[in-house]
Amino acid sequence: MNSLRLIMISKINSLSLFLSLLLLFSLSSAKTPPRPRAFLLPVTKDVVTKQLITTISQRTPLVPVKLTIDLGQRFLWLDCGNGYVSSSYKPVPCGSIPCKRSLSHDCAETCLDPQASPGCNHNTCSHIPYNPFSRTSTGGELAQDVLSLQSTDGLNPRKYLSANGVVFDCAPKPLLEGLAKSVEGILGLGNGYVGFPTQLANAFRVPRKFAICLTSSTTSRGVIFFGDSPYVFLSGMDVSKRLVYTPLLKNPVSTSGSYFEGEPSTDYFIGVTSIKINGNVVPINTTLLNITKDGKGGTKISTVDPYTKLETSIYNALTKAFVKSLSKVPRVKPVAPFEVCYNRTSLGSTRVGPGVPPIELVLGNKNATTSWTIWGVNSMVAVNNDVLCLGFVDGGVEFEPTTSIVIGAHQIEDNLLQFDIANKRLGFTSSLLFGQTTCANFNFTSKP
Ligand SMILES: *[C@@H]1O[C@H](CO)[C@@H](O)[C@H](O)[C@H]1NC(C)=O
Ligand SMILES: *[C@@H]1O[C@H](CO)[C@@H](O)[C@H](O)[C@H]1NC(C)=O
Ligand SMILES: *[C@@H]1O[C@H](CO)[C@@H](O)[C@H](O)[C@H]1NC(C)=O
Ligand SMILES: *[C@@H]1O[C@H](CO)[C@@H](O)[C@H](O)[C@H]1NC(C)=O
Ligand SMILES: *[C@@H]1O[C@H](CO)[C@@H](O)[C@H](O)[C@H]1NC(C)=O
Repeated sequence: MNSLRLIMISKINSLSLFLSLLLLFSLSSAKTPPRPRAFLLPVTKDVVTKQLITTISQRTPLVPVKLTIDLGQRFLWLDCGNGYVSSSYKPVPCGSIPCKRSLSHDCAETCLDPQASPGCNHNTCSHIPYNPFSRTSTGGELAQDVLSLQSTDGLNPRKYLSANGVVFDCAPKPLLEGLAKSVEGILGLGNGYVGFPTQLANAFRVPRKFAICLTSSTTSRGVIFFGDSPYVFLSGMDVSKRLVYTPLLKNPVSTSGSYFEGEPSTDYFIGVTSIKINGNVVPINTTLLNITKDGKGGTKISTVDPYTKLETSIYNALTKAFVKSLSKVPRVKPVAPFEVCYNRTSLGSTRVGPGVPPIELVLGNKNATTSWTIWGVNSMVAVNNDVLCLGFVDGGVEFEPTTSIVIGAHQIEDNLLQFDIANKRLGFTSSLLFGQTTCANFNFTSKP
């Protein structure tokens, strides 16, 4: 009897607990709308420099800041010398956790200006921003400020949300040399704690992954999604369904133009094991495809190089094999920086661009081999109305370019690439033209 009553009481208790939890849940969900799964930034291509440009909102009060995108760079840096005004600016102190995680070895003890200001404070963590276009670097003050970004449901942009304490580096104005007009810094999407994707994942509590989709045109917008799919393009296609994955590889040594000793590379490396043209293996020295313990060799992806750059021996083998596979088609006078060019009319055209043999990057180990196929639209460059050239360039002799294969921006246009940092893998779609959509097809009309 006693025990039965006990059970009944405990049942009632758990029921009332369940009811009160339900009430609590419905109350809290009424107050806070569901957290966005993703955020986005539009991307345009600058006509003059071909740099990829975006605009973020930063500071208090918020102001728009135009930036050039550098996929592999370690952090966001921008010019603080020129009227940076913000009531929420905080320098990162020497020895603090964000300073340590940035792998800085430097501390600026005193600012020599009579008055402290953004970029010049006492006892601040100092880091070394790099401009890959002018190939210069300086010292900069690591700082934190408010950032506002537009959320997305994957179909349209939704409302803006703000986060505090997003880390960036304050650089002096001369470091802007070589950047597109009115650009104020570089948005580094690199793989590291101070990298923009990880900063956003921490600030907005979205998954540590982002996807880029670059358009080939200078008159339309591509898009970067931070966080989870879906990534829906007109007409209603979730492009994430087309993703195929390959591991992202670690490079133990920085591949940036400026770094502190011990900093690993923040570039995104993948394991290309061979290259095929029209299904035939191109004879190359595959040792160059491995990343050495001093950080040389391997294959990375870059948005700063307009065309794929190959170590000289790989470049020579690839162009030779490509020419051979098109031996029946007459070549025309080359147009620099390219060497292999054809008359457009002699190549014909397909759904995925000029009718040329596909170039296949074979990825991964023996177990799970996948291929990233580069079709005519991504391999050939129209240098004028008549002439199309093979859009690969010679990156210099053995290890001089450090990285053997640098996949450039032209080769990733109208492909969606998802950098899944948390799961250490890259998702790629190959040309979206196969699915009859492009990176210009995201619907940028905001929904409330
Ligand atoms: C391949 O490249 C490696 C690294 O540069 C070099 O040591 C080796 O001699 C090369 N092998 C051949 C067959 O050229
Ligand atoms: C590349 O590295 C892997 C793993 O360390 C090794 O098994 C392979 O033999 C290397 N390949 C070449 C061509 O050196
Ligand atoms: C390309 O072919 C067209 C048509 O045959 C011809 O009119 C044009 O002059 C050619 N251009 C070059 C650069 O060879
Ligand atoms: C390769 O496949 C075998 C058998 O399925 C498995 O035991 C092994 O762990 C796999 N290796 C890798 C690197 O995936
Ligand atoms: C873009 O999104 C808006 C808002 O949801 C919608 O009204 C419009 O029809 C969409 N445009 C196209 C072309 O689907």
